[in-house]
Amino acid sequence: MAAGFVYREHGLNCDGVAVADIVSAVGTPVYLYSAARVREAFTTLDRAFAAAPHTIHYALKANSTLALLRVLRALGAHADANSGGEIDVALRAGFEPGAIVFTGVGKTREELTKAAGLGLKAVNVESAGEAVRLGEIARALGRRVRVAVRVNPDIDAHTHTHIATGRRGNKFGVPLEHVPGLFRDLRARDGLDPVGLHVHLGSQLLDVAPLAAAARVLANLAREVRDAGIRIEHLDLGGGLGVAYDDGVAPSPAAYAEAVLPAIREAGAHLVLEPGRALVAPAGVLVGRVADLKAYPGSPRFVILDTGMTELIRPMLYGAFHRIGAVVPRPGEAPVSEIVGPLCETSDTLGRERAVGPVEVGDAIAVFDAGAYGMVMASNYNRRPMAAEVLIDAGGWRVVRRRQTIDDLLALEE
Ligand code: LLP
Repeated sequence: MAAGFVYREHGLNCDGVAVADIVSAVGTPVYLYSAARVREAFTTLDRAFAAAPHTIHYALKANSTLALLRVLRALGAHADANSGGEIDVALRAGFEPGAIVFTGVGKTREELTKAAGLGLKAVNVESAGEAVRLGEIARALGRRVRVAVRVNPDIDAHTHTHIATGRRGNKFGVPLEHVPGLFRDLRARDGLDPVGLHVHLGSQLLDVAPLAAAARVLANLAREVRDAGIRIEHLDLGGGLGVAYDDGVAPSPAAYAEAVLPAIREAGAHLVLEPGRALVAPAGVLVGRVADLKAYPGSPRFVILDTGMTELIRPMLYGAFHRIGAVVPRPGEAPVSEIVGPLCETSDTLGRERAVGPVEVGDAIAVFDAGAYGMVMASNYNRRPMAAEVLIDAGGWRVVRRRQTIDDLLALEE
């Protein structure tokens, strides 16, 4: 049986543990994660790419809770960090500096200095200016820094515009035609070792064709740069593999591998992947309780939860769909409802026109596939303390991040 969250006779269950029991003990809102589901996703992806030398650098931005990072590291995952903070968290989770790639537009001098001093696997540089600054820092430290150039290939990833990153009009990467020149410049620059090419087209990709096109672009560039005498060690295809939030189908890891591997193999380079969402989204649920119910004539039925945009901002930010269901469904019928949060904004809606069946105040409600870009994008808006997080593993469960308190929040203030 597949690991993770499934409905059984007595309600929602995760790997043999009743979700209702955890929620009663820990309270709401709470994020629950299935370690087994994360392992399954990692192993499936890793096996799909078995035919080519590759390394999976988990993108911490999707969810960097230490307990989950430790699960991934134990499986052989490496790390992709997008800030100095994520580098620190990766190190604390036990990733070696040489297993970390550092991506991200707008890296500060402090972040570049940290990266240069650590000896990361690669700093993915986003512009000629960033390369110059990194070179200066490396020379000042007397170090050599391994760099990859992030290419903007001008490829449409067919995803939500907020999370599409590979078009010419986006702030990310170096335009294709400037990459060979930048590479020659890097080679001439003391302190930097150009070792790779990087691309990230966007996130939640449901079509592998753009990923195949990006792999082809990197392979062609590698050849061009190699002809100029520079050896490319690795091609980094970024992340982006989508998941099925609704009843649709997302591309399988096998389809992903089949699409990109021909070009990578021809280039004869080591493949780096930076998946985030596909490894953790299906492994997590957010659970809240019904705080109030409203049904007035001429207005929809509102199911008002004790959780909303402060815990999961994806629906309001991207119009994202997440399945929603009662932890212990009640028998019978009820009109479709607006599933909303308690925050002071109409946009604080988790799901529109949903059939969650009859519910009563106090019932626990699960929002599915919330393991990626949920907790990491949480906020304290309305002075709401952040949710607790629970890891379910090997038939047991434990709180891996306690619920924030108002004292935690105020501890930083005068
Ligand atoms: N590598 C780079 C350079 C990235 O920018 C990202 C995601 C990834 C890897 C991981 O991509 P994934 O495999 O997770 O698609 N908050 C948005 C998603 C933003 C993604 C940003 N970059 C959401 O909730 O949908």
